[in-house]
Amino acid sequence: MDILEAIKARHSVRRFTGKKIEGEVKEALLRAIDECNEESGLNFQLCLNEPNAFKSRFFHYGTFKNCKDYIALIGPKGMDEKYGYYGQKVVLKAQQLGLNSCWVGLTYNKFKIPCIIGKGESIRLVIALGYGKTQGRARKSKDIMKLCKVDGDMPDWFKKGMEAATLAPTALNQQRFLMILNGTTVTAKALPAPYSKVDLGIVKYHFEIGAGKQNFNWG
Ligand SMILES: Cc1cc2nc3c(=O)[nH]c(=O)nc-3n(C[C@H](O)[C@H](O)[C@H](O)COP(=O)(O)O)c2cc1C
Repeated sequence: MDILEAIKARHSVRRFTGKKIEGEVKEALLRAIDECNEESGLNFQLCLNEPNAFKSRFFHYGTFKNCKDYIALIGPKGMDEKYGYYGQKVVLKAQQLGLNSCWVGLTYNKFKIPCIIGKGESIRLVIALGYGKTQGRARKSKDIMKLCKVDGDMPDWFKKGMEAATLAPTALNQQRFLMILNGTTVTAKALPAPYSKVDLGIVKYHFEIGAGKQNFNWG
């Protein structure tokens, strides 16, 4: 599965089979996390066989079944876009490895997570992982034209970038972002909403893959 196929195949999955993440899949996941940490300065940590973070029956929305594996996204405050960008890099890698996932900002128990958290760091979000009971399903998306501003004709690379951006997961599927094209410069804006800066990082990662990094610069 190439990365564009992974973008198309990925949907949030909250029910897992309980099959363990091990062997080569585990090793490849750890390598992807190490790479992201090195590039970003964040401190993502893989937690395996830890059933407590998703035990709660408190939440109506976002209930997880059989979720014992996840990545804790740990680091300093004020880095939301980076959490999104690098977190999604790991999400798509996981999809390519045959795993399913779901971003989780709220519906988990932060206090049960057994990670080592450095000075000035905290757990910002987690990414639930595992072998899904299903592959999830496609959800509604806003129209591309409502998510961008383009003067004149829309170049093909920009359209492909927008198509990938609309497939990006956002908190509550809110899609509160705007991409503005000016020549070959694309300015990405997060509109006011909870987690919209994390969403923006996720969206920018998808956009780069769809559009091709060589075709534009971020403004
Ligand atoms: C930053 C962020 C936070 C999220 N928080 C939660 C959460 O707390 N609980 C949950 O069940 N899903 C959560 N989600 C998953 C979204 O509801 C889901 O991505 C969105 O509805 C789009 O669906 P899709 O991922 O299948 O494309 C979150 C997603 C993002 C990007």
